[in-house]
Amino acid sequence: MPMKTVLQHLRIIDEAADIYGAVVIEDGIIREVIAADNQWEERLVPQRNTAARIIDGRMMRPGQVLTLMPALVDLHAHFRDPGFPDKETLESASLAAVAGGYGTVVCMANTKAVIDTLEKAQVLKARSDRLGLIDLYPVMALTQDMAGRELSGITRVPAIPALPFPRMLSEDGRDVADDRLLLGAFREARRLGLPVSCHCDAGGPEAEEAKCAGKPREFWSRIEENVATRRAIALGKQAQCHVHIAHVSTKEAVELIRETKLNEAGDSFTLSCEAAPHHLTLTEEDACVLGAWGRVNPPLRTEADRQALIAAILDGTIDAIATDHAPHTETDKIAGAPGFTGLETGFAVARTELVREDRLDLRRLSSLMSAAPARILGLGDRGRITPGNRADLIIVDSNAPQLVNPGVFKSRGKNSPFKGQELRGTVLMTLHGGRVVFEAE
Ligand code: DOR
Repeated sequence: MPMKTVLQHLRIIDEAADIYGAVVIEDGIIREVIAADNQWEERLVPQRNTAARIIDGRMMRPGQVLTLMPALVDLHAHFRDPGFPDKETLESASLAAVAGGYGTVVCMANTKAVIDTLEKAQVLKARSDRLGLIDLYPVMALTQDMAGRELSGITRVPAIPALPFPRMLSEDGRDVADDRLLLGAFREARRLGLPVSCHCDAGGPEAEEAKCAGKPREFWSRIEENVATRRAIALGKQAQCHVHIAHVSTKEAVELIRETKLNEAGDSFTLSCEAAPHHLTLTEEDACVLGAWGRVNPPLRTEADRQALIAAILDGTIDAIATDHAPHTETDKIAGAPGFTGLETGFAVARTELVREDRLDLRRLSSLMSAAPARILGLGDRGRITPGNRADLIIVDSNAPQLVNPGVFKSRGKNSPFKGQELRGTVLMTLHGGRVVFEAE
């Protein structure tokens, strides 16, 4: 007997649909999407009669129309496991992820030890699979120990068509300074058909000169990002691989990505990019007020940069929104550690900033946070609510106000720059492969 769940009386939204109705799940897979019409209640009866569980939107929040969306897919998080249990563990990060509505997460390799072999990545993935809360895809670093000297175990990953794992490679915030080595890594990525997430932090001599000349961080870090983005694109073209620019934050980098996408269309070189919720909402003025708590890489930029990011979201230059979840302890934060905890606020921050004044609708937000990142990872079985897809789903109250209180975060990282802000959009339930893995209290 298949395990059946019926989710009913919900607004169902993904990047292509916005309907009212019901979804039938069987054995962790979406079997049927039933749009409300004159006979839909009758068609639902046999499904309900054979269901092990019925989740009714009307019962969850009487008087509200709740929304069913695909679970979110995060291309960029730091789980700190192994090696930094004070900041985060696999368990706490996974609980934070499901509370934030994420079903699939890519985690970065800057752990202790660095994830630089397939075996290390597999150990972490197996631990995550045993937990069963999310689908975790650890990236593999490009160089051994992220030291920028020799290529990592990526050279030993077999090129199997539709390789299930890994789905992305990245040297995280280190970049690879040596052009030839980075090109070699890009060629491996091409052989494996995997995107390389480029954090674009290494600005080379130009940025070093500015640093030595005593220029402020906002000046040289902008050069770093712009120069590194240009370099990643140039080497990516040479290797004909998929370059994914992480947390784009300057208007110049956005413009470069826009132009490259327009001019390189049809080539086997692929370019995609993501923006982080904090860069879409906060500026250097907020950073001043926040002090050490406002420090992040890349830094919060100017209002003109922020506006350029929003415009790039609207015109499709930016493919995805990724959290860059970077939990730190209070002590580390005060000592200057960059990064923000983000899994538990990503959806609400993006929803509050973007789904207003007709900027964009929930379908587009779903595309940016679920369907598009799933496509970047080559995961065709998620990110949309269609029959045959995995039942990775969230139920949200898209209008509910939410006061950000890091004290109740599941993440060990309480370093949220949104502390005390009232946001709109609350995740009430997360289903992973048809199982309820999170329910708001
Ligand atoms: O601010 C950041 N911190 N940005 C990153 O990309 C990395 C992260 C970290 O690992 O703490």
